Amino acid sequence: MIITCGNCRAKYKLDDNAVPRSEFRVRCTKCNHAFLVKKPAADSERPPQLKNQTRTADSQSRKYADNPNCKVITICNQKGGVAKTTTCLNLAASLRLKNKRVLVVDFDIQSNLTLLLGHKDARSFFDMINSSNDALSSYLVKTKHNFWLLPSNSKMALLSKKHMPNENFEYMLRDKLLEVKSKFDYILIDTPPSGDFYTLNALLASNVAVVPVPCDYLSLNGVSHIEGMINVIKEKIDHYIDMRVLVTLFEADNTVGKVVLNKIQNKYRNKVFSTVIEKDQKIQESQIVHSPTIFYDQESVAAKQYRQLANEIEALFSSAPVAQPEVSG
Ligand SMILES: Nc1ncnc2c1ncn2[C@@H]1O[C@H](COP(=O)(O)OP(=O)(O)OP(=O)(O)O)[C@@H](O)[C@H]1O
Ligand SMILES: [Mg+2]
Repeated sequence: MIITCGNCRAKYKLDDNAVPRSEFRVRCTKCNHAFLVKKPAADSERPPQLKNQTRTADSQSRKYADNPNCKVITICNQKGGVAKTTTCLNLAASLRLKNKRVLVVDFDIQSNLTLLLGHKDARSFFDMINSSNDALSSYLVKTKHNFWLLPSNSKMALLSKKHMPNENFEYMLRDKLLEVKSKFDYILIDTPPSGDFYTLNALLASNVAVVPVPCDYLSLNGVSHIEGMINVIKEKIDHYIDMRVLVTLFEADNTVGKVVLNKIQNKYRNKVFSTVIEKDQKIQESQIVHSPTIFYDQESVAAKQYRQLANEIEALFSSAPVAQPEVSG
């Protein structure tokens, strides 16, 4: 049988006899996407073909595979104030410094990312959806830092109320991003401190979830929550998302911080970035002047650490571990 990776469209030939079950999991050696494969039924067992099939989550998954070169990353943690927005902004700037084409999506009703980039009253995703689905590209604004922004505004709060009852509401963001994926190397999505409509939409549009976590006990709980959400998405919707934990707001002279850092590294092991973002006054100074810290003070501790994070992000996507079909149990 021939199987096709739902993410990058790579094709593989498998010997039917070597596959012991009717359903099994494989991982693509090219893009590391894991997906479920159903062994074709014998002709006599095959259900009749349906004509005029309605659009399903599966057909949307195939559509999503249009541009594997664009990497989509959601920055999320249901806990507030853990440096999601700060990370989104500085990671975007760091990737831009590497000449990557970057879009940041402010998918948070607080609009903090939009505010930090100085585009307070711009039109948002909500305005686009409400205007008979205009082209997404006409809502993107170019920031003075040479990356692009899909802004948020106060109307974004209405998005979930208005669209949650709709079928496939959780794919709204992913479907719209398809229009512009060929124009970007990276799309970074900033999310609110919750695990609801907005975060679910963002995760379903993404290849990787970056979960910022300060070294205090309660923040760890936020990571478990996102991990649970990702597992449900992988199992029930069959969309593969990788997760990486990013330690933020770290204070080297804080004993509790060191203990929690140890716990995080033991628990999440290779799922934790080696880069640790320390508390740095330059972050707050740079936000006052609406600049990513890495442009405000290139030599600051935070600037160096966010540039290091961009290196790790690049490495994450360039590594393509060899994979064999995994038989699900
Ligand atoms: N490395 C850092 N050093 C010092 N202050 C920081 C650092 N990172 C973030 N901050 C500050 O911490 C606060 C919270 O950061 P940020 O807004 O990025 O968090 P958030 O997770 O996006 O919050 P929310 O959940 O409300 O969206 C901000 O005042 C920011 O300036
Ligand atoms: Mg934020």
